[in-house]
Amino acid sequence: MRLNSLRQQKERMMGSHQVALVTGASSEIGQATAELLSASGFTVFGTNRSPEKLAGSYRWLPLDVRSDASVQAAIQSLLEQAGRIDVLVSNAGYSQVGAIEESSIADVQAQFDTNLLGIIRMIKAVLPVMRRQGSGRIINISSVAGQVAPHM
Ligand SMILES: NC(=O)c1ccc[n+]([C@@H]2O[C@H](COP(=O)([O-])OP(=O)(O)OC[C@H]3O[C@@H](n4cnc5c(N)ncnc54)[C@H](OP(=O)(O)O)[C@@H]3O)[C@@H](O)[C@H]2O)c1
Repeated sequence: MRLNSLRQQKERMMGSHQVALVTGASSEIGQATAELLSASGFTVFGTNRSPEKLAGSYRWLPLDVRSDASVQAAIQSLLEQAGRIDVLVSNAGYSQVGAIEESSIADVQAQFDTNLLGIIRMIKAVLPVMRRQGSGRIINISSVAGQVAPHM
């Protein structure tokens, strides 16, 4: 997404204090997204499971999307610091690679708990906030592997 487009989107959204939450912001897609939003003027909260190890141009929250309690604590902490959530980018996840006969049920359950239920936990946590605000955007990062299933 181009910076100009993000700026225009930001201007269209209400108020001047726009807050974005990016899950899994410690590397690659999540990190690039958090940096782009931060450079575009959003107040950005990035998450990973050990944020005390991290530095960057945005604020850090500890979050494990497999845990209801962790999700609730992260949203509560964000709201205490920033008061609102305008954009959620649900990016935390990973690729479970391997033939079914080589993958344990626990491995597969962990994948669904993170990549599927993690996104649902995040949506359920931010929707009441966005409904109260009367605005908000939720962006879920998926994969072409959801359509072509090359690995399992
Ligand atoms: N890269 C690709 O080619 C590609 C292709 C298709 C889809 N995707 C999807 O795009 C997203 C990002 O991919 P990426 O390659 O940028 O990933 P990555 O570099 O491996 O980063 C994954 C991020 O997710 C976080 N994370 C993992 N498990 C978590 C959990 N249980 N709770 C909270 N955070 C967790 C990691 O944080 P920690 O520091 O805590 O580990 C990290 O910040 C993923 O959802 C992936 O499935 C990627």
